[in-house]
Amino acid sequence: MEYRNLGKSGLMVSAVGLGCNNFGMRIDAAQTKAVVDKAVELGINFFDTADVYGGRGKSEEFLGQAIKEHRRNIVLATKFRSPMGEGPLWGGGSRKYIFDAVDASLKRLGTDYIDLYQMHAPDPVTPIEETMRALDDVVKSGRVRYIGNSNYTGWMVVESQWVAKSERLTPFISAQNQYNLLDRRIERDLGQVAEKYGVGVLPYFPLANGFLTGKYRPGEAPPEGTRIAAMGQRAEGVLTDKNFEVLTALEDFAQQRGHTMLDLAIGWLASHSWVSSVIAGATKPEQLEQNARAGEWKLTPEEMAEVGRITRRPE
Ligand SMILES: NC(=O)c1ccc[n+]([C@@H]2O[C@H](COP(=O)([O-])OP(=O)(O)OC[C@H]3O[C@@H](n4cnc5c(N)ncnc54)[C@H](OP(=O)(O)O)[C@@H]3O)[C@@H](O)[C@H]2O)c1
Repeated sequence: MEYRNLGKSGLMVSAVGLGCNNFGMRIDAAQTKAVVDKAVELGINFFDTADVYGGRGKSEEFLGQAIKEHRRNIVLATKFRSPMGEGPLWGGGSRKYIFDAVDASLKRLGTDYIDLYQMHAPDPVTPIEETMRALDDVVKSGRVRYIGNSNYTGWMVVESQWVAKSERLTPFISAQNQYNLLDRRIERDLGQVAEKYGVGVLPYFPLANGFLTGKYRPGEAPPEGTRIAAMGQRAEGVLTDKNFEVLTALEDFAQQRGHTMLDLAIGWLASHSWVSSVIAGATKPEQLEQNARAGEWKLTPEEMAEVGRITRRPE
C-alpha cells in the first residue's frame, strides 16, 4: 500500500482509504468488524465516517468498536455539521455546536482523540471566523489533531485558509468533495485551489455508488443486495443510457491495458497529485482486496488524456 501526505500536512494516509457510510446502514456490527479488519490487514489506514452516518451515530459506534485494537495504527476521520437532532442547536458550525459535537463523536467512537475532524458542508449562517476559531480550540485541547472541510467550493476553501493564516489558527488540510469518472465538476475550481494551497482532496462517491465497478449492466435490473438496488427510484438517475455509454468506453480502455473497470475508477483518481486518499465504501472484505489493488495503477499522462477525452472535461 502506498502512503501519501494528507495535503501538505505530515499525516500519512493510505492512497486507498475506506468510506464508512455503509456501517449501521447496510451492514451490522459484525460485518463492519470483518470489513475493518480486512482493511487494516491490507494496509488501509484511513477510515472516513461522520456523526450522521448509519442513522445518526451508528456508523461511528460500529467503527469505534471495530478499531479498538487498531487505534494506534489508523487515521480516524469523522465529520460534524449535519443535523443530529431537532432545532437550531443540533447542527451547524457554531462554537457552541462544535464543542458539543466533538464530545458526542468521541463518546460514540470510544476514543479520546479524532485524527481528522471535517466540517461536512458549509454553514451559511455562522461566520467562518467563529468556526475556524472553535476548530482551533478543539485542536489545542487535544481532542482533534487535524481539520478538514467537505462540500466547500474553491472560494470557501481560500476564505477559510486566509482566515486561518491571518488569525493564526489551525488551517484545513483536506477537502472532501464528490469526484469520479462520471462527475469531474471539481476540476474547474476546487481541484485547482486544493493543488495551489496544498489541501489534500478526498474524493467521495469514487465509484458512483458502485456503478463504476461495472457490476450493473444496461437493460438489466441491479443485482440483488447491491447499493444501487437498494436506492429504489433514485437508481434511475445513475443507470442512464449516457452513463452506460461512458462506462462501456471506459471498460474497453481498461481491458485493452489488462485492467478492470474498478482498477480504472480508483487508479484514475489516485493518479491525480492533489488526491490524497480514495475513500471507496465497501460492504464485504473481498471488495477491499480488489480496491486496494486498484490503487496501484498509475496512469501515464497519455492515458490520463485519453480518459479525459472519453469522459470529456467540463467546460
Ligand atoms: N462528504 C460527503 O458529503 C460525503 C457524501 C457521500 C459519501 N461520503 C464518503 O465517501 C465514502 C465513499 O462513498 P460511498 O461509499 O457512498 O460510495 P462509493 O465509494 O462510490 O460506492 C461504494 C459502494 O460500491 C460498492 N463496491 C465497493 N467496492 C466494490 C468492489 N470491489 N466490487 C463491487 N462493488 C464494490 C459497494 O456497494 P454494494 O453495497 O453494492 O456492495 C459500496 O457500498 C463514504 O463511505 C463516505 O465516507 C462523503
